Amino acid sequence: MNKVIVTGGAGFIGSHTYVELMGAGMEPIIVDDLRNSEERVLGGLEKITGKKPVIHRIDCTDRDAMDRVFAAEKPSSVIHFAADKAVGESVQDPLKYYHNNIGSLATLLRVMQGHGVKDVVFSSSCTVYGDSEDLPVTENSATGQAASPYGYTKVVCEQMLRDVSASDPGLRVVMLRYFNPIGAHPSAHIGELPIGVPNSLVPYITQTAAGIRERLTVHGDDYPTRDGSCIRDYIHVVDLAKAHVAALRWLSGRKAPVCEVFNLGTGQGNTVLEAVHTFEEVNGVKVPYVIGPRRAGDVVAMYADTTKSSEVLGWRTELTLADALRDAWHWQQALGGEGEKE
Ligand code: NAD
Ligand code: WQD
Repeated sequence: MNKVIVTGGAGFIGSHTYVELMGAGMEPIIVDDLRNSEERVLGGLEKITGKKPVIHRIDCTDRDAMDRVFAAEKPSSVIHFAADKAVGESVQDPLKYYHNNIGSLATLLRVMQGHGVKDVVFSSSCTVYGDSEDLPVTENSATGQAASPYGYTKVVCEQMLRDVSASDPGLRVVMLRYFNPIGAHPSAHIGELPIGVPNSLVPYITQTAAGIRERLTVHGDDYPTRDGSCIRDYIHVVDLAKAHVAALRWLSGRKAPVCEVFNLGTGQGNTVLEAVHTFEEVNGVKVPYVIGPRRAGDVVAMYADTTKSSEVLGWRTELTLADALRDAWHWQQALGGEGEKE
């Protein structure tokens, strides 16, 4: 059996990837202390897959605990999702981000070395491109000018993987730069669980449509885009999850050591207002919104060139923005009126 340690496997992207790994006949083992996820995700995974998930509730920066998990499970590969991801919080408390995001990867790589595990897939982000002049951005576009401490942790983690890979020729690394993951599993058993008031667009839209929030504020309509609002590459989380299966399969077919980076997006940019109107059309519900000022740190436009991931990994997206916004709404409806008031 192809056992895969999935750190952060109870989180938004990790839980959807867990489902796809199971569907591909692999054996995912979750390592997550649930600091940013909830117990009920495990119930959702069981409903979808028919099997109770195996989870080790430990902190990935705890080397002894990680050692024990690797000794007990004897995995053949790892997908490392575990990280803190709130951009604004990373500005307030950068050390939390440097400690967890960089510390957990450094610990993981040490433990992998100790147990002879060679294959690792890492969650990076389009944030490493900063405010890119290239559009669409390719994997060769300039990186390193991230807009936040969170973004810099991804820049540093990528560099750590390149350095460790150069020193350990047996290591096989894939770094995946996600664009804007949205949506939920079509079963509505798992989805995004934002804690408190969401910063991200789609959870804010669904909570507004559900009446938890009074109105959405569109952060600026004076950008140089077709309707004045910012452009992003919104990718359905199920498509994104499938790319991890493709990455593991690709890695296991490598004879030589590798350290490769891939963009994971749709290749299409949509504006904020297009996302709002698509949501309204596909779900038949209104999203009250107002136009507000620009949000600090936002880039005008960001979308992926996906040539490399489709040619090398043989992966491409199958779902549309409308699919993702429909599934996000079904998930919100399954959650009911949950959500902390402003
Ligand atoms: P998430 O917060 O939903 O999931 C992360 C999971 O990791 C959570 O369940 C949390 O409890 C766990 N975790 C964090 N630190 C841990 C630690 N030290 N020990 C044990 N468990 C720990 O986040 P997500 O949206 O699923 O993101 C997954 C990864 O993808 C992260 O690395 C994130 O930076 C990256 N990413 C996310 C996005 C996005 O928009 N969601 C975009 C680009 C990249
Ligand atoms: C999308 C668009 C907002 C909320 C973030 C991280 C990035 C990466 C992906 C992890 C922007 C607009 C939003 C609202 C709005 N994550 N918006 N009203 O900022 O593109 O990327 O997630 O690696 O690092 O920064 O995503 O969903 O916050 O915003 O108008 O209430 O929606 O201004 O144009 P973002 P987002």
